[in-house]
Amino acid sequence: MTLANLRTLLKNDYAVPAFNAYNSETIQAIIQAGEETQSPLIIQASESALEYAGLEEFAAYALKAISKTKIPVGLHLDHGKNLETVKKCFKNGFSSIMLDGSSKPFEENVKISLQAKKAAPGLPIELEIGALAGKEDYVEEKEAKYTSPEDALRFYKLTKPDALAVSIGNSHGWSEKKLKLNFQLLKEINEEIPAPLVLHGSSGVSDEQIKKAVKLGIRKINMDTQLRKSFTLALKKSLNENPDINPRTHLTKAREAMKKTCIDRIKVCGSNGKAKTQGKK
Ligand code: G3H
Ligand code: 13P
Ligand code: ZN
Repeated sequence: MTLANLRTLLKNDYAVPAFNAYNSETIQAIIQAGEETQSPLIIQASESALEYAGLEEFAAYALKAISKTKIPVGLHLDHGKNLETVKKCFKNGFSSIMLDGSSKPFEENVKISLQAKKAAPGLPIELEIGALAGKEDYVEEKEAKYTSPEDALRFYKLTKPDALAVSIGNSHGWSEKKLKLNFQLLKEINEEIPAPLVLHGSSGVSDEQIKKAVKLGIRKINMDTQLRKSFTLALKKSLNENPDINPRTHLTKAREAMKKTCIDRIKVCGSNGKAKTQGKK
């Protein structure tokens, strides 16, 4: 299967899961989960993950794996901040990018977002308006910088993203499902914005809330922390229980655990069984 396009991937009444990867095992876990559930999906990597794995090497491995599977899979840059990274992703065959200027003032966010579109001409782009709390920054719901529907519309008109990430009570890096989404706000944003909406930081959001958010217009759901947790806990358990010094023995267990979490998340997104009909709506 050739790479799936973000624009068609998000044109449905369910959400496509976007899983973060950083090495061969995580790419394999994600694709195997998609194959077992017949789900379209997105493999995404952050700038720090690409630095860890090597951008060119990561892209080559992911693109080869994607070319061999029959399910639709996109390859996406997550939270791109540097235009140089955007250019490199464009050059190395990514099917979409995110430019995250959400921590900047409105005008600067618009400026860098437009620069990113120029740096990757024609490539589908996800942008963000309204900043999420940082990983080390576990703030209360009332302190989060929520997306304002008016700003979102103004931002949309100026930048025309293919997908828009919003801040509605979601926050990165939570391993317990304790976050509380503001559904009234999501509804208002969805009524204003023609682009599909993206939910970041979904590891800390309960399944019920994720399902409700999908009904209210969320079409891409980003997941990382939960996958890391299952991978690392399985790795720890295996290392504790088995003295084998072959890393593959333990990494196999970690990969399997992460695959199971991906399968579970795919079902919550409602994308299971949609691989064949993807893009046919
Ligand atoms: O949303 C952020 C992702 O969890 C990426 O985190 O920069 O540690 O890879 P990372
Ligand atoms: P979590 O780590 O909270 O799942 O968020 C992932 C994310 O938003 C990646 O962009
Ligand atoms: Zn994110």
